[in-house]
Amino acid sequence: MTNAAQGTTGNRQVRLKSRPTGIPQAEHFEIVTVPRVEPAQDEVEIQNLWLSVDPAMRGWVNAAANYAKPVDVGAVMKSYAVGRIVKSRHRNWEVGALVTGLFGWQEWATVDAKVIERRLTDRMLQGLDPSAGLGILGLNGATAYFGLLDIGKPRPGDTVVVSAAAGSVGSCVGQIAKLAGCRTVGIAGGAVKTRLCLDKFGFDAAVDYKSPSFLADLKAAVPDGVDVYFDNTSGPITDAVIARINPRSRIIICGTVAHESWDPPPPGLRIERPFMVTRSRMEGFVALDYADQWDLAFKRLARWILDGKIVYQEEILAGLEAAPDSIAGMYRGENLGKRLIRLAHAA
Ligand SMILES: NC(=O)c1ccc[n+]([C@@H]2O[C@H](COP(=O)([O-])OP(=O)(O)OC[C@H]3O[C@@H](n4cnc5c(N)ncnc54)[C@H](OP(=O)(O)O)[C@@H]3O)[C@@H](O)[C@H]2O)c1
Repeated sequence: MTNAAQGTTGNRQVRLKSRPTGIPQAEHFEIVTVPRVEPAQDEVEIQNLWLSVDPAMRGWVNAAANYAKPVDVGAVMKSYAVGRIVKSRHRNWEVGALVTGLFGWQEWATVDAKVIERRLTDRMLQGLDPSAGLGILGLNGATAYFGLLDIGKPRPGDTVVVSAAAGSVGSCVGQIAKLAGCRTVGIAGGAVKTRLCLDKFGFDAAVDYKSPSFLADLKAAVPDGVDVYFDNTSGPITDAVIARINPRSRIIICGTVAHESWDPPPPGLRIERPFMVTRSRMEGFVALDYADQWDLAFKRLARWILDGKIVYQEEILAGLEAAPDSIAGMYRGENLGKRLIRLAHAA
């Protein structure tokens, strides 16, 4: 291992200082330094290289019921990370292995080896940076792949609409839909992001939901209606898209970034009638349900990247200091692509 791995005794961590009711802001976190912890039997110590920032982290710190227990106040902020094993007391995990899992917002993580979700092999990464294991070859890529193909079931000629289209999941959805022969329409906030959708991610049309002409622009962008809607936002964008759904349309409920809080639940339109009239389907989706098939998706996504059929974009923040404000920044729409934090020892 590196001299740094052997010589450093302190571990800087980002801890939850107080519980937010909506979107966690910088003041809800604090950075502390604690000693590194020697791994016990069946544990490993991991030097984190890349930390992930995900919209779901809002739900991980809110008290309102979610699909996981909220992070305790005073605990290290839960997050996906990519790191390298520097010490191992587990027979299946060797020092030097590049791994990913919920290692938290910290520089060094001593965890039960069961916390490791995957090994990032050269074969899987295909020459891409290990950070891809948190985005296109990680949760975001798997979300786009299985959400669109398994729930959305796109057919050639379908119109596929995607919200948060310039983001990590949305940009991938649009490109997979294009490969499936669909007409793609991205919805994103502001001119920079709609341009990105058109110029980099190849959407056939892009609509700015922040524009006063949003409803008219959306109508013009989907002259034949909407067959598949990949919903990353909920809120007014979704209300507008549902008004344009075709018979037998499929709506994938992937995320709800448009809402600060679900306690109490935000008000919205009644949707039963358009769904009954069009015989449409709306289905909730969680990518982790497909965990046993993720490798298949990563193989195909990596192939498409190498063949130049799809592209991805990362937005890299420098150092642990960037973490406390990074979730709020995503909700302000600051990120252009997959938001990541690069720690000092990342190559
Ligand atoms: N179900 C699952 O298994 C699963 C797994 C991973 C991710 N997700 C969901 O997928 C979605 C995208 O995640 P990501 O990691 O790829 O994030 P992302 O799209 O890269 O970043 C989040 C984006 O959300 C948009 N946004 C923020 N507030 C908004 C608002 N009020 N109305 C509309 N858009 C808003 C912003 O883009 P603009 O500037 O365009 O507004 C922001 O850049 C999220 O909802 C996330 O929770 C679900």
